Amino acid sequence: RPSGRTLVRGRVLTFKRRPHGAGDSAAYSYFEDGIVVAEGGRVVDVVDGGEMSRVAGEGAILHDFSGKLILPGFIDTHIHFPQTQVIASYGEQLLEWLTKYTFPAESRYGDPAFAGVQARFFIDELLRNGTTTAVCYGSVHKGSAEALLAESERRGTAMFVGKTAMDRNAPPDVLDTAQSAHDDTATLIAAWHGRGRQKVVITPRFAITSTPEQLEALGSLARDHPDCLIQTHLSENLEEIATVRRLFPERADYLDVYEHYGLVGPKSLMGHAIHLTPREIQRMSESGTVAVFCPTSNLFIGSGLFDYKGLEGGTHPVRIALATDIGGGTSYSMLATAAEAYKVMQLRGQKLSAIEAFHLMTRGNAEALGEPDLGRIAPGAHADLVVLDSAATPAMAHRLAAGSGDLEEELFVLMTLGSDRNVHEVFVGGRPQGLGKAVS
Ligand code: GUN
Ligand code: ZN
Repeated sequence: RPSGRTLVRGRVLTFKRRPHGAGDSAAYSYFEDGIVVAEGGRVVDVVDGGEMSRVAGEGAILHDFSGKLILPGFIDTHIHFPQTQVIASYGEQLLEWLTKYTFPAESRYGDPAFAGVQARFFIDELLRNGTTTAVCYGSVHKGSAEALLAESERRGTAMFVGKTAMDRNAPPDVLDTAQSAHDDTATLIAAWHGRGRQKVVITPRFAITSTPEQLEALGSLARDHPDCLIQTHLSENLEEIATVRRLFPERADYLDVYEHYGLVGPKSLMGHAIHLTPREIQRMSESGTVAVFCPTSNLFIGSGLFDYKGLEGGTHPVRIALATDIGGGTSYSMLATAAEAYKVMQLRGQKLSAIEAFHLMTRGNAEALGEPDLGRIAPGAHADLVVLDSAATPAMAHRLAAGSGDLEEELFVLMTLGSDRNVHEVFVGGRPQGLGKAVS
């Protein structure tokens, strides 16, 4: 056998489809003792531990995590790269929070050296939390997106990155123009979109900070590059929505602003999407637009309670993804994010089962991005893996000691009490990242 073969042994869990709710075990496959076989950055096989001698061969490297959970690396579908020092900023709701904390922090990313240093921290922190892919907003400066893409390329991660476009209603040092936003994004696409594992996202910040001319220019860019994701914010906060109505009185509603400029469709990720009208829900459904649920952010900024089951299962079902929204969000951990999603849904009288949550963090989010080779562990998929120790803290070990040993119960404990402390190791393209906890 050729060397370069990596074996990762443990309790392998991967999803086949969206679960309908707790107990829907046909939605996933689970190996109590499994081996993920990786070569050339991809999974080539997943077998039972009993087949070790068949898949091992000469030169294969074994990483034995027997007893620990092995899942696809988590995917974060909405995070702000220049907000790692905005996280945990006190006392404001969205528009004041942007003015007081966010725009000043993002202005520093005009310095490429600063952005480069921050990019290292950002990817370190994602990996420490088991997140191997993220859909990222840069600052308004093209150099911030370039710094993050270059760092991601160096690390071998798959990142989706946009230069944030904003040409009004913010301080001058975080503004571009309709033309420069178009041209800088086009330059990024030419240099980076599809280079290795990196992709570029068309990123108007939100309707308040873009002129009609800028939205028009980005819509035209989206038509030129139909394979690029588009990301923006939609109906997060009531004052925000009222402002959009004042700025675009001729449009039917907030979503219609984006739709008018060609920014709505199956490649579009709408952050938050909390306060939606029936018309907006119907159009999101018909167009295949994704609503991105950011529970820690929605609670922290006091924005509102996302209607998960209403959107997922209504007459006009809407695609849903899950995300941290750092730095409005308060945790880099997708586990902690799922815990808050559960609580938001409790307040709405809805239930989020552990398997629905883990599906969302992995395959569900990959499907929202249109990336079938991410978020699952199966031949052909990228070998991006997270190894989780469910009993990493005394409180979790103590809780699980009284458990039934049932997988779904363990997953629920993991999402409710979990954090970076449960992330034992991470593999990116089949390569262990050496988080310092690996014993191998
Ligand atoms: N809406 C426009 N920009 C932002 C941002 O940076 N964070 C959040 N949470 N909402 C926004
Ligand atoms: Zn956001």
